[in-house]
Amino acid sequence: MSMGKVRYKRIEDLPGVGPATAKKLRELGFSTVESIAMASVKELAAAGIGEKRAQEIINAARSAIALTFISAEELVKMQQNVERLTTGSKALDRLLGGGLETQSITEFYGEFGSGKSQICMQLCVNVQLPRERGGLEGGALYIDTEHTFRTERIIQMAKHVGLDPKEVVKNIIYAEAFTSDHQMFLLDHADEVIKEHNIRLIIIDSLTAHFRSEYVGREALAERQQKLSKHLHKLIRLARAFNAVAVVTNQVMAKPDVFFGDAVAPIGGHIVAHTSHTRIYLRKAKGQIRIARLVSSPYLPEGEAIFKITENGIEDVAEEEAAKVRRR
Ligand code: GTP
Ligand code: MG
Repeated sequence: MSMGKVRYKRIEDLPGVGPATAKKLRELGFSTVESIAMASVKELAAAGIGEKRAQEIINAARSAIALTFISAEELVKMQQNVERLTTGSKALDRLLGGGLETQSITEFYGEFGSGKSQICMQLCVNVQLPRERGGLEGGALYIDTEHTFRTERIIQMAKHVGLDPKEVVKNIIYAEAFTSDHQMFLLDHADEVIKEHNIRLIIIDSLTAHFRSEYVGREALAERQQKLSKHLHKLIRLARAFNAVAVVTNQVMAKPDVFFGDAVAPIGGHIVAHTSHTRIYLRKAKGQIRIARLVSSPYLPEGEAIFKITENGIEDVAEEEAAKVRRR
């Protein structure tokens, strides 16, 4: 958060944090004053800090970034700080109330090939655009669990929007997660990288794949949901601390035997719903065309948008073509 006066630049500058404590905090993933301000006493206590001292350190960090008591006027300012990121499709942006919001999580779910990863890669390019073109003039962090990120595809998309592909690639920080624990570890230790590279977009593609394959059966369900919930909690705190857009993907299977509505069967149950969480269901139409349905949002109405995936990336569909899809 860029509000308030930051008096402590590094965590060592916080009262009560010596070099040894700072080292332990970093090992636990608290490398910035921002992340400590968002931490709980319990989390810091894991660094061998007494609860009282942990609370003092957190308070100091909070005062430094003005997260304690704020006036209603300041709250409005903080909400005004929410920015939007373009998807590349005007129709999809409209459905989302002007693009993906910072400080909240957007989930794209749908079956294989529905375009989840393509949207993620497009967003990695778009976040680097100037604000007047719907970007956030920042970098992207891509946590990839299925080895789907393709640099060549990024280059293609960057060229289309007129950005220097070399620069665009440089501003995407890529991390492959090998297990669900590793995935959580990566996010838990992401704050320094986010700060250093002015990351304004955090992607987890896919959020659920590792969790599903590792936590199998009814007995494992509670533990899996608990871990996922913790993971999402970390994500939302990072998104708030750095005014970033957070995107997660989730594969679900289409259920062709259901006659009414377009029911989908989540392979391993729905993920834990979060208060600041927008969910978009993607489905395939003819050829390159995809339909996005806004399923839930903290305040936007439900609705649908039609877009396509082309050589250029995510694009709008001509109105006549969209009308044809709608009639079907
Ligand atoms: P899973 O990860 O398997 O669940 O699927 P997903 O939802 O992530 O699908 P993804 O975003 O990978 O979409 C794949 C689809 O995007 C392909 O079926 C193609 O239709 C389209 N696509 C991917 N790359 C290109 C490309 O370079 N050019 C064009 N025209 N289309 C592409
Ligand atoms: Mg994918």
